[in-house]
Amino acid sequence: MDGLESLTPKAIVAELDKYIIGQNKAKRAVAIALRNRTRRLKLPQEVRDEVAPKNILMIGPTGVGKTEIARRLAKLCGAPFLKVEATKYTEVGYVGRDVESMIRDLMATGFSMVKSEMQSTLRGEAEKRAEEVLLDLLLPGIKKKTEAYKTTHEHGLIIEDGSVEKSPVPPVVPAASTESVDTREKFRLMLREGKLDERVVEITVQRGGMPNLEVFAGSANLEDLEMSVANITNMITGNRNKRKQVTVKDAREIIIAEQLDKIVDQDKIAEEARNRVEQMGIVFIDEIDKVAVKGERSGGQDVSREGVQRDILPIVEGSTVNTKYGVVDTTHILFIAAGAFTMSKPSDLIPELQGRFPLRVELESLNAEDFKRILLEPRNALTRQYTELLATEGLTIRFDDAAIDRMSFLAAEVNTRMENIGARRLHTIMEMLLEELAFQADELSGQTRVITTDYVDERLSDIVLDQDLSRYIL
Ligand SMILES: Nc1ncnc2c1ncn2[C@@H]1O[C@H](COP(=O)(O)OP(=O)(O)OP(=O)(O)O)[C@@H](O)[C@H]1O
Ligand SMILES: [Mg+2]
Repeated sequence: MDGLESLTPKAIVAELDKYIIGQNKAKRAVAIALRNRTRRLKLPQEVRDEVAPKNILMIGPTGVGKTEIARRLAKLCGAPFLKVEATKYTEVGYVGRDVESMIRDLMATGFSMVKSEMQSTLRGEAEKRAEEVLLDLLLPGIKKKTEAYKTTHEHGLIIEDGSVEKSPVPPVVPAASTESVDTREKFRLMLREGKLDERVVEITVQRGGMPNLEVFAGSANLEDLEMSVANITNMITGNRNKRKQVTVKDAREIIIAEQLDKIVDQDKIAEEARNRVEQMGIVFIDEIDKVAVKGERSGGQDVSREGVQRDILPIVEGSTVNTKYGVVDTTHILFIAAGAFTMSKPSDLIPELQGRFPLRVELESLNAEDFKRILLEPRNALTRQYTELLATEGLTIRFDDAAIDRMSFLAAEVNTRMENIGARRLHTIMEMLLEELAFQADELSGQTRVITTDYVDERLSDIVLDQDLSRYIL
């Protein structure tokens, strides 16, 4: 991974600044953690193995950017990233979904990441092959006479040409060999120019991929088991292929995908993916506060919450997990846990787990000034999003500076009066503010509307001031 070298902590923070306002301590912490991983990879092997990542615990009220920071971070460095809710593992009785599945899911993410990278480099080759397959399909009489009506490919893709008659182009009469080469080349040309795109061919596509046998490697849970059984049943009954009439245009995409599957080396992908997951993977465990148990323990719920913490422990500490793609060592995976910790405190987590998250960062709750910046500055700022959305209907909207101030003030006001839901409040405010314009946008095409303070007040003030109303609407 080349881009990583240029990602100094400062550069990472600068990149995060494009999307997240404030929260500098948290940004610095994740930037350092990320940089330390690139630093570690430069160390000699013996030392390298000793350096464990410093896992991070992000503490802060809801809607202030915890998840957003982690998500942007992963995107930025191209690392396999998985976000899970700690509570997901407590849901079904005490057992829930087994905690190791987070590593299997991370590995699956890594796998598809590496796979699509490799595939994009091999796309040209696959396109070339697909062209040949399509020509075979379109000119069954010319090549491989014995297989004229049925071409079976290794990966179970069976292609049949059933419908030359139905197509607008006159049927092809099998020709003698020298002519047939000409014909094939003529068709190749037409194919490339897209002239045959609308012709219909019949192909047989395989349903699903290889049966999912992961369940035998990891510990079983009901969902996975059911899926595996269904897959195996299909395999046994041979109920996996489906004949389909499609246009040449669609067939091309299907065949390219099949060819790609064939030429990329699955083992190589798995190996590279495993390497990347082990060295660079990031798991973001949200809602960790919800599995912290406060004070005296009672009842099944608490047992199950503590159970989840105990299950997480070895994974965070470093252990091996069986996955479909091989055994993954979790020692150097970076874990970022996050929670609001309003009902519980980090010290309510079991001590062993507290120790696994030595870096604590607090995120600050957001005020009107922050809201103003959040409305305007990020690349994906809400004002931009709505402006673009309405522009698709030809309606231009502009926001007065004063109106932005007013909206930020109102958002902060509702957050103090009622529940503080952080920046998410801006979404409800914005929806309410622009509801009427959004409804009529098509009729206002070609016009420009300026959102002024008066407009904001007209749309929002009553609601904000009326506690009962705002409880339901904002
Ligand atoms: N500091 C910020 N700068 C810009 N946008 C923000 C900021 N904080 C939150 N947002 C926006 O608010 C929304 C919610 O943020 P996020 O998902 O990060 O909340 P969170 O802190 O993880 O909350 P929770 O504890 O509920 O999971 C997102 O759309 C995000 O873009
Ligand atoms: Mg979150």
